[in-house]
Amino acid sequence: MKKSVTVFRGDGIGPELVESVLKILEAAEAPLEYEIFDVGEAEWQKNGELIPQQAYDSFEKTRVLLKSPITTPIGKGFRSLNVTLRKKYDLYANIRPVCSNAAVKTPFSNVDIVIFRENTEGLYIGMEEKVDEDTVHAIKLVTRAASEKIIRSAFEYARENGRRKVTCVHKANILKQSDGMFLGIFRDIAAEYPDIQSDDKIIDNTCMQLVMNPNQFDVMVMQNLYGDILSDLCSGLIGGLGLVPSANIGADYAMFEAVHGSAPDIAGKNLANPTAFLWSACMMLEYMGEETCAKKIRGAVNRVLSEGSILTRDLHGTASTTEYTEAIIQALGRAE
Ligand code: NAI
Repeated sequence: MKKSVTVFRGDGIGPELVESVLKILEAAEAPLEYEIFDVGEAEWQKNGELIPQQAYDSFEKTRVLLKSPITTPIGKGFRSLNVTLRKKYDLYANIRPVCSNAAVKTPFSNVDIVIFRENTEGLYIGMEEKVDEDTVHAIKLVTRAASEKIIRSAFEYARENGRRKVTCVHKANILKQSDGMFLGIFRDIAAEYPDIQSDDKIIDNTCMQLVMNPNQFDVMVMQNLYGDILSDLCSGLIGGLGLVPSANIGADYAMFEAVHGSAPDIAGKNLANPTAFLWSACMMLEYMGEETCAKKIRGAVNRVLSEGSILTRDLHGTASTTEYTEAIIQALGRAE
């Protein structure tokens, strides 16, 4: 029996990514059926709604969402829909694996880092207050409950996946209470996992260490804003944003999306790299217990990347989104 998944088409390159990934899922015979909705800025301009009620209803029924990027106005306008969805459905763990691939040569090989980003609080609660014309307060919320959940998820993941180390990234030298509490909770929880190494680093030092020697890192756990910034930095270590997927996991719901945004500079040009979104779909299949199908797709992507002849422009190739999609579909049929 097919399992139902909600799909949000989103803005910018979103519709192209959805088309590509659904084609590949179909070719891989993923046992899924899809409830597809337009959401985001374009939908808001057309129908006055960012996310139609039927789209929310669908996600509340299927509890699994494959979401392509949504544009968020900068410095004005509506609150980020991504932040809204993560908060509304308590998708507290944002898991972002960053892994080297055969197609892109960077100064580093064998990067294999998994970022655990707290997804529901920090500076993302959006509480900004104008004190006077020249002064604004922004509140960063850190709670024991949310900190414990994300830190414990990172250690559990490390244990289940045979990982050696969890690093806590923070700024507790300056933010002694908020980051100080996060670090204290990290140290307490680390003591419950003597089989996993643990250490901590200040965020600024971490940035320097990442671009000098990323192989020292394994699983990393941090608050919301630090995770947002460090995951883009890490994507640069392996060839760019077109390659990094994410899972947003809560107790009852899960949402899968690429780390990158709606890329308005290349939207509608058939240039987008669908790999990050496809790997997000693989994470979704694994979450749904469809590991065999995920493995088949991962194998096909890795074959196309290592052959290196059909790659999108961000990976220094010349292929369009549709040519790359077709190459993956062809590779699905070839033995490893
Ligand atoms: P972006 O991630 O959309 O693009 C940054 C750069 O990477 C651009 O040059 C873009 O062309 C390139 N890029 C990104 N994804 C690519 C892909 N799949 N293939 C090839 N190249 C790719 O970041 P930007 O431009 O700062 O943000 C655009 C919009 O996306 C903003 O409104 C932002 O708020 C939103 N955004 C949405 C996210 C989401 O829906 N989860 C996450 C991040 C940003």
